[in-house]
Amino acid sequence: MSLQGKCIVVGLGGGIAAFKAVELVRELMRRGAEVRVVMTEAATHFVGPITFAGLTGRPAVTDLWAQDYAGEVHVELGEWADAIVIAPATMNLIARATSGQANDALLATLACARGDVFFVPSMHHRMWSHQATQSNIRTLIDRGALVLGPITGPLANGEIGEGRMMEPEDIADELESRLVHSDDLSGSRILITAGPTHEDLDPIRFLGNRSSGRMGYAIASQAQRRGADVTIVSGPVHLPTPFGVEVVPARSAREMHAAVMSRFEQFDVVIMAAAVADYRPERLEAQKIKKDESLKLELVRNPDILAEVGAKRAQRPSVLVGFALETEDLERSARHKLVRKAADLIVANEASAGLGGDTNRATLIDAAAATRLPQMTKRALANQILDRVRTLLNNPSQRPRREAEHEAPN
Ligand code: C5P
Repeated sequence: MSLQGKCIVVGLGGGIAAFKAVELVRELMRRGAEVRVVMTEAATHFVGPITFAGLTGRPAVTDLWAQDYAGEVHVELGEWADAIVIAPATMNLIARATSGQANDALLATLACARGDVFFVPSMHHRMWSHQATQSNIRTLIDRGALVLGPITGPLANGEIGEGRMMEPEDIADELESRLVHSDDLSGSRILITAGPTHEDLDPIRFLGNRSSGRMGYAIASQAQRRGADVTIVSGPVHLPTPFGVEVVPARSAREMHAAVMSRFEQFDVVIMAAAVADYRPERLEAQKIKKDESLKLELVRNPDILAEVGAKRAQRPSVLVGFALETEDLERSARHKLVRKAADLIVANEASAGLGGDTNRATLIDAAAATRLPQMTKRALANQILDRVRTLLNNPSQRPRREAEHEAPN
């Protein structure tokens, strides 16, 4: 019940993603929030106000003349809400909000907002990239609004593009990050690698892998919520930047290596969740490789970033966490990795459990023990990992002793 006691207005614009607002309302309520729904007239063409009345136990507000609220409904709701989330925020609704109109219940409520205002855009990708929308969004951000997404993915007409509404669970996570502060990691600086790497073959093609980056991004947004100062060095992913987190893009293993090596000394904790390619093509062809009977690729090893940070004994972070993805003999090879890479904690996943999906099953392995965790959301697993990191930070005695650190150089 992480949003217990929070008062949230969900405001719907008229877009096809309005059906996802039903799930959003349920998710926020599941987390303990009290939710009220306000809809534009256009939104009522996509989902019925009765659905929300049934879910929230209060009528959805669709006009300014609602009988069910005493006094002025927009003033009352604007004052009541700790946050107003506009989802879906259509191009039209964004434009109207930017120009300060207040001619329906939703815009009037927005105008009276006391708490945080979040826009969750959802529209065709050309509407999103339209100059008018982009300049409106900049204005809203300048005025203090928070914009979540949109994400790149399938749109209503089947095209793939940037314009898809963020998923309800991710929206709820972002709200939680903003509204609920826990500070058990405050003062800690955490560097996280996330996502796949792309190893270019020629100007068109690359070698990659199925990592989505969701695990690393979940750790980042939870660490930020818990008060840490967070930077992600991110491979190519289609994920929104978590609220309050700095993202440093890195495409290939070598770029990721450079980004981490130039920064890691400034961090207390380094968590390497990226699926870094072990090999890259020996040659990067300047021109597109021509079709032939067959093609032999020569691959060479990439730098092992985790092992290199582990080996920098003097400057190394207090806590170093690695991931191990295996298809067989999971625990034994993860323990081997813990020692070989001089990490403090290894998060071992079976390849079948987590890659690309929303949930994961992992075993946490440190010098003392192996803890097998059940299948859970990546967000829940992120918090388990961070609990362990906090323990290691607070109890240096629990970290493996590195004899070589104390040896005199010879
Ligand atoms: O040895 P293996 O690649 O299985 O180790 C996985 C761990 O090492 C992960 O934490 C991954 O982020 C990290 N790694 C790395 N650089 C590489 C390969 C893996 O940092 N080149």
